[in-house]
Amino acid sequence: MTPQAHKTEEYSYPEFFTDDFIKNPYPTYAHLRENEPVFHTTYPGEPVEIYVLSRYDDVKEAFSHPCISKQRKHVTQGLLAPNAMHRKLKGFHTNLVMVDPPVHTRMRKVVTRELNPARINALKERAQEYIDELIDAMAPRGEADLIGDFANPLPTKVLGEWMLGIPPSKEWDEFLEKSTLLVTPRYDYRAEDYDALKLTMNEFILDLLEHKRANPADDLLTAFVTAHANGEIDDDEVIGITVTMLLAGFASTTFLIGNAALALLTHPDQMKLLQERPELLDSAVEEFIRYDGSMQTATFRFTSEDLEIQGTTIPRGSIIVLALASAHRDPDAFERPDEFDITRGHNPHMGFGLGVHSCPGNRLGRLFTKMAIGSLVQRIPDLTLAVDPDELKWRPGLLHRGLFELPVRFTPQPGPATGAVSEEVTP
Ligand code: HEM
Repeated sequence: MTPQAHKTEEYSYPEFFTDDFIKNPYPTYAHLRENEPVFHTTYPGEPVEIYVLSRYDDVKEAFSHPCISKQRKHVTQGLLAPNAMHRKLKGFHTNLVMVDPPVHTRMRKVVTRELNPARINALKERAQEYIDELIDAMAPRGEADLIGDFANPLPTKVLGEWMLGIPPSKEWDEFLEKSTLLVTPRYDYRAEDYDALKLTMNEFILDLLEHKRANPADDLLTAFVTAHANGEIDDDEVIGITVTMLLAGFASTTFLIGNAALALLTHPDQMKLLQERPELLDSAVEEFIRYDGSMQTATFRFTSEDLEIQGTTIPRGSIIVLALASAHRDPDAFERPDEFDITRGHNPHMGFGLGVHSCPGNRLGRLFTKMAIGSLVQRIPDLTLAVDPDELKWRPGLLHRGLFELPVRFTPQPGPATGAVSEEVTP
């Protein structure tokens, strides 16, 4: 990546995608909200022009604007234009975040029916046991990487293996690696690199669906192949649903748990408060998502007509980026927006999106975070960062905000597992 500082006398802030921005995007977002609420810039690598909305009200309205679509057919040029799409990747691109109603409605119905509270509740006890096991493994060491040792294995095991029904394998590990590359991309990647990446991921998904057809079980992937066999969804849609489910829930959960732990580690008063008053866990989870959530922006959206926002005309066929991280620090929407306050009452964040594409995994994401952080801060009460926060390495890219590693230290504390969060998930 080539960092390009964009500094002139009158206009001085770190440009998007620089190392400074990746480390701490919030000053840039504050500048944009104030000065350029519709920011036209270029995504590095294969150049893709984007319009970034940074104010809370604009982001909120855009989620349900009739002239803002999820379909790439509106894009006329560049990497995302439909004619640039590899023919073998039609199913891959029929994923939930790339379709509008009525196709979206049909696909989404299958997902929400299967990702239901009963299924989540059925896994809660095992998930808690697994969290306890992960903490047990870290506790005697006195040091750990909270991403690699804790935040990453949790969704891989509970969501991947137990809920979706993906058997552990080297290929699945590689798929997860590749999917992180896809959503937190390398800036030297070109269209052909993305296609190569997606083609291997696509092969994995086709094999997985074939495996499920031959070996049905009580899991989500079996439910999707059954919906396909029943004619509820077509050949491309079953692939698209699977792609979304394999891409949407893993990194977002891992990064949220990491960012939540970091927020507590850098705000010892809030850490202490949470340890003393575990009943604050629910409002703490909402504040983790608002203060430094794992989805920095929503997924790309496209204008189906020319659109004027805050005096700027966005031409038809443009790519719109909704900067959730910026909206969540907008002083017009939140009091003391830069303050991390786990007792915050009114917290209308949009960390799970809004409207028809809002996150169907939000209950699970919230529950994972609540159980993981709740257990961690009770079981290992003297957690501290093992490095200066400035040395932490953040993943590049605009979609997610997440750490590569989160090194911590603590007094070695071997002991039995405790810290279970007992809560029913209701519809
Ligand atoms: C705490 C972690 C999570 C966060 C912060 C998060 C956030 C989001 C956001 C912001 C969106 C909307 C994207 C947009 O409109 O552009 C979304 C969509 C989605 N999420 Fe999550 N998510 C999380 C966990 C999960 C989990 C665990 C699952 C699956 C079990 C999941 C499945 C999905 C799916 C399938 C969509 C696409 C929905 C659609 O387009 O209709 N997410 N998520």
